[in-house]
Amino acid sequence: MLGAVSCGIGYSKGQRGNVARTVELAPSILSANFANLAADAKLALEGGGGLLHVDVMDGHFVPNITLGPPIVASLRKAIPDAIFDVHLMIENPDQFIPAFAEAGATWILVHQEACTHLDRTLHLIADHGCKAGVVINPATPVHMLDEVLDLVHHVLVMSVNPGFGGQKFIHNSLNKIAELANEREMRRLDFRIEVDGGIALDTIGDVVRAGAELLVAGNAVFGHGDIRENARKLLQAARSATAAHA
Ligand code: DX5
Ligand code: ZN
Repeated sequence: MLGAVSCGIGYSKGQRGNVARTVELAPSILSANFANLAADAKLALEGGGGLLHVDVMDGHFVPNITLGPPIVASLRKAIPDAIFDVHLMIENPDQFIPAFAEAGATWILVHQEACTHLDRTLHLIADHGCKAGVVINPATPVHMLDEVLDLVHHVLVMSVNPGFGGQKFIHNSLNKIAELANEREMRRLDFRIEVDGGIALDTIGDVVRAGAELLVAGNAVFGHGDIRENARKLLQAARSATAAHA
């Protein structure tokens, strides 16, 4: 499987305090033209996307339906080398993790709210050769993740209620990002902090300053104008915020 990195699980040996943070833009293909998906995705990567964010919705966990493993597999054939950050907004994710791993997912994210046995699910992702991430909705407090922070490669803070692109950024997400960054520092952990929802030129600086480094953007990349240029400007704004913050 191209693009997938076998990792095992357990990301707890970090020395975060000494490591420079790298911000990366994660264009969310949810807002791309699905009739032109691979081409749109390539433009976003050319503009500076460091990975592709793939939103999977089942019409149950969230009130929308998007795509399944065959589309991930097709995209993987068209774009062999990119990191695919597959965000499962579905009930019973354990049932589908093997198929998404087989299709070419690199990282797989599951919602804390969707997993009865979250520890087991995170291990299942790693057992299938992908890096495991966990997501919390806007109404879920950070402390719900206390027992798994040493198991995950990345933590995604939803800054909108999941289900749709183009929604308004929820400002309390900034406090949650800062709380996670603080927790990571105190416990000397190594997970990366991702944010998803309402990220655009007017919000990207704030989330970076709060401590996010993987920046998902759908509408702001694919929703208007020149995809490559949109991605380039967002990444530039994110990098300037890091520089100003250092
Ligand atoms: C929403 C998805 C997001 C979505 C973000 O449920 O998880 O990844 O694509 O879209 P924007 O950036 O338009 O808010
Ligand atoms: Zn997402």
